[in-house]
Amino acid sequence: MTSVSSSLKVEQYAYLNPSRDRRIAIITGGNSGVGFYTVLHLYLHGYVVYIAGRSKSRFVKSCKEINEKAHRIRLKYKSEEESKQRHLGELHYLELDLTNLQSILRAVDIFKSRESYLHLLINNAGVMALPYTLTQDNFEIQLQTNFISPFLLTLKLLPILERTGDKFSQIERPRIIYLSSIGHQFALSNFNLSKSMNYKPDFIFTWLRYGVAKTAGIHFMKMLSLRNPKVLCLCIHPGFVMNTNIFSYWTNLPIVGILFWCFFQIFAWFFGVTTEQGATEVLTSSLNSNLTVEKNNGKYYGPRGKEIEPSKIANNMDYAARTWIWTIHELAERGITI
Ligand SMILES: NC(=O)c1ccc[n+]([C@@H]2O[C@H](COP(=O)([O-])OP(=O)(O)OC[C@H]3O[C@@H](n4cnc5c(N)ncnc54)[C@H](OP(=O)(O)O)[C@@H]3O)[C@@H](O)[C@H]2O)c1
Repeated sequence: MTSVSSSLKVEQYAYLNPSRDRRIAIITGGNSGVGFYTVLHLYLHGYVVYIAGRSKSRFVKSCKEINEKAHRIRLKYKSEEESKQRHLGELHYLELDLTNLQSILRAVDIFKSRESYLHLLINNAGVMALPYTLTQDNFEIQLQTNFISPFLLTLKLLPILERTGDKFSQIERPRIIYLSSIGHQFALSNFNLSKSMNYKPDFIFTWLRYGVAKTAGIHFMKMLSLRNPKVLCLCIHPGFVMNTNIFSYWTNLPIVGILFWCFFQIFAWFFGVTTEQGATEVLTSSLNSNLTVEKNNGKYYGPRGKEIEPSKIANNMDYAARTWIWTIHELAERGITI
């Protein structure tokens, strides 16, 4: 088992000048939580960042906050020389709702009309333990948000990622980062994406559905790394980041919400990491130039950049191949070919 952090801090990764080295990143769900801090540091490192999300007003609000934070951080740079060498990037909005497949196709078209290259795709957006609901595309909401839509988005962007790798062969290969979770371990051994798992009690089965979706995401990254050695594919568990919006369904429940909030705070006290620490894991896998297709492709990393062994089901390449075929088939049934 290897570690990717090699004790580098985020500040030690290369800073780019966007007018000279225009490196482009897309991140889903960059307006809050782990995604927010990931965007902040990519921006500080000179990346042109497209924040893909479903609310323009949340994007505008978070851009303002990111700019304020970025300027405060820049004031702490040690010398004027340092400030001159470190350029801020750009922030752009890309409208995308992961519960709607057509919105993903539209987002890809819009992105391609604006940019010719893509160096980094971070599939960060996700939902956790929501009540059983079907999306307008007739998928269970956690499966579509956490896996099917990132699958579609990634495969539609793959040609541009490959083209970027060919064009910029002297720099690191383009990367795809997928935010999985230690919760992928909740998937049961009879792994089957066709099963709706709409059973009672829902507050138990919802966790199993989350586990299935995040396991399918690991399958996807493993399959892609085998099929496509031109792009570096990595899975991340950012640690237990207990103060993000991902827990808000539970903490907003009437009456019992306060109990869940207390439970999450106590859990965070013992096992949690800060949102910025969670984002550091994503940034390490995104920016660390020691990571290569040859050594690291398809691997899964956890807190402090440690490589983690995924569950047996997530590691099983027969299941991974079935996940791939099942998803292509389901998308084709909805009129979408890859
Ligand atoms: N927090 C943890 O302890 C933890 C642990 C393991 C893994 N993770 C994973 O880390 C990732 C980030 O989670 P977080 O903790 O930072 O949670 P978060 O603050 O809730 O961030 C999730 C992001 O996903 C976006 N999103 C949700 N549904 C969407 C949709 N239909 N279309 C577009 N965007 C959508 C949200 O956007 P809106 O603002 O529009 O809602 C939000 O920006 C998730 O994939 C999560 O599963 C988190």
